[in-house]
Amino acid sequence: MSELVVEDLVAGYGDARVLHGVRLTVREGEICAILGPNGAGKTTLLRALSGMVKARGTVRLGGADLIGRPPDALARQGVAHVPEGRGTFMPLTVEENLRLGAFVRRGKAEVEADLERIHAYFPALKTRLKQTAGSLSGGEQQMLAIGRALMLRPRLLLLDEPSLGLAPLVTRELFRIVQAINAEERTTVVVVEQNAHLALGIAQQAHVLETGRIVLSGTAEEIRADEQVAQSYLGYRV
Ligand SMILES: Nc1ncnc2c1ncn2[C@@H]1O[C@H](COP(=O)(O)OP(=O)(O)OP(=O)(O)O)[C@@H](O)[C@H]1O
Ligand SMILES: [Mg+2]
Repeated sequence: MSELVVEDLVAGYGDARVLHGVRLTVREGEICAILGPNGAGKTTLLRALSGMVKARGTVRLGGADLIGRPPDALARQGVAHVPEGRGTFMPLTVEENLRLGAFVRRGKAEVEADLERIHAYFPALKTRLKQTAGSLSGGEQQMLAIGRALMLRPRLLLLDEPSLGLAPLVTRELFRIVQAINAEERTTVVVVEQNAHLALGIAQQAHVLETGRIVLSGTAEEIRADEQVAQSYLGYRV
């Protein structure tokens, strides 16, 4: 079971509170999109879910209580976070980056099998295993970041602005792969994305976050049909 339940989530930096009681549920195997303006707290929400910022409230994944636990403990629980800016290790090779993703895992044979699995999702990486991450294109780096996260065998995959800085064609390919991963591995996904069209295209549920509060929730269709969302995030009037 990997249903994500978030209730009354409060988080911030030092004395500055950024999230003021966030509540959302993502059913097992579903994709949830988080939309919202710059500075709304989207990145902070993902950081709270992966233990990178201090948080209070409730975060449960498949019944296991995750709140207040450090990032490595959450990684062991199957929470994989692909941060804003990707977080790949530039001087290391593609293969070294992928193997780092398996840091909490045992079972060498399984890790080798997972490398093969990731090559199947991202054939572009397979031909570049010995290249440094720093020499990859932006799209390839994002693929590497997601591939590395998959090496954790995540139950929950957190993606922060995967399309940032990428050409539309590359972005569409990336989202197609995320959808395939979600369908094949049944990984629950929370994706923060500026490109609301793309995010709503693959998500079942969506939430709009503004100044640390969820101001609108619904199915992807409902959020897409909402006039105010259309004006604010989709760039057109309905
Ligand atoms: N490391 C930090 N220390 C202090 N304040 C921070 C830190 N990171 C973010 N903040 C503040 O928290 C608030 C929310 O930031 P956050 O990065 O979560 O927003 P966001 O919705 O991801 O924005 P964007 O769309 O620009 O990525 C902002 O006011 C920001 O200045
Ligand atoms: Mg952000």
